[in-house]
Amino acid sequence: MKNNTKASIYSGAQPEQVALDLEPLVDFQNQGISLKTLTKLVKERLLPHLMRYDLPEFQSMFNSFPEEGAEFGAKIALTYNQGVTNWQVSPGGAMLEELCGRALCRLFGLSPDSDATFMYCGTYANQQALYMALHRKAEKNGFDFARKGLQGFANPGDLRILASCDAHFSLKHALRILGLGENSLVTLDVDRNRRIDVKRMEGTLKNQRRTKEVFCVVATAGTTSTGSVDPILPIVKLCENSDVWLHVDGAYGLAYSLVPAWKPLFSGIELADSVSWDPHKQLGIPIPNSLLFVRRRKDFRRMVLHADYFNPERDSTPNPGLKSAPSTRPFSALSLVTSLRYQGMAKAIKRLRAPLDAIKAAADKLKSEPDIELCHQPDTGILCFRIIPEGFPEKELDHLQQYIYERIMTEGKRSISMTKLDNKTVLRWVAISPVVTSEALMETIFYIRFLARGAF
Ligand SMILES: Cc1ncc(COP(=O)(O)O)c(C=O)c1O
Repeated sequence: MKNNTKASIYSGAQPEQVALDLEPLVDFQNQGISLKTLTKLVKERLLPHLMRYDLPEFQSMFNSFPEEGAEFGAKIALTYNQGVTNWQVSPGGAMLEELCGRALCRLFGLSPDSDATFMYCGTYANQQALYMALHRKAEKNGFDFARKGLQGFANPGDLRILASCDAHFSLKHALRILGLGENSLVTLDVDRNRRIDVKRMEGTLKNQRRTKEVFCVVATAGTTSTGSVDPILPIVKLCENSDVWLHVDGAYGLAYSLVPAWKPLFSGIELADSVSWDPHKQLGIPIPNSLLFVRRRKDFRRMVLHADYFNPERDSTPNPGLKSAPSTRPFSALSLVTSLRYQGMAKAIKRLRAPLDAIKAAADKLKSEPDIELCHQPDTGILCFRIIPEGFPEKELDHLQQYIYERIMTEGKRSISMTKLDNKTVLRWVAISPVVTSEALMETIFYIRFLARGAF
């Protein structure tokens, strides 16, 4: 099979072997070693076990390899100012972060009053969005959430958020950390393409509001499992009518709204109260690189916390650190700026479009293949499917997908992922880097068929 002639994307070794290989790296001794020895050690012991994001056979996860202009910026940050919390820490860094945030608001067509803050990751961006939503709810109830917390609500147990059953698990983390608990999440049904079913959502929202206090709805613009984009505009209308905060989790998908043919999918995004985005996922920007946008810049005032040594009240210099919690903040804006300036938007958009086209072309080819069941039509660069060889027993199909996933992942020649949809085990492609082609995806299908034949 072709599979055996490819370069490895990683060793495919099992955890016990990887642990043995890495042990010498953590043998901390009194004496240091030369850079030459260190290089040899890392090359031999670690590199084979790292995943090569830069090959077309990497078809499983989100982070893409760093783009050249982004790498340039990341090196400058490392040499000069890694941290940029405020003017004292890095005057140019603090100002660049502010300017970059506003420029991104314009790029995404957000409202003229919108603003952005850089975050460590999408998880924290979502968490801060829920905090701000809860804060606004408290204001409407006549108290300051920053001071009183949940105790200010007459019945904190009645607070609810609504999100798709396919929404990212970071929402549950946020609810745990905010002290609301996972039970305050009401999951919404999805349609055949795994987007929130707006008609049913309308009913759920109405029902919930009879006895509970719904303070936030989360729509996902690019779900983790299938890349589906929830219908933002009709959801905006429902939220406006109910005076509920709308957060759009665009951690994975938002960048694709820059690709003209995909833009209509994101219609209404400018009307959301907040939007999260992870350039470290699809844009080839080094981790950590995430943002949280708000529709009204004054919304960030809910995050302000002054410390006399660092953030004194009457300081008028740029201070991005007042818009989100971390007081050590990486200079994430720089690699994003250098990447987009180096490539130009035309090239950046072409890079974004490549994996979307690859997935779409593969889905078009597969829809008439009798042994492949597509679980949805792809909105973005993710596609879930099952292989169903003729005559294969239905009750063994979950095991078959699992077997194929495990075989592929232990061979190290290519990668794929696996998830569950409606309780069925399914194989999942994530095409994120510009080097993934429909041919590379179809080679994976040929190999999956080969493995399936061996499983009979
Ligand atoms: C839709 C969505 N939201 C949030 C997150 C969390 O982002 P991060 O991994 O940057 O914390 C992910 C991660 O996969 C995601 O897909």
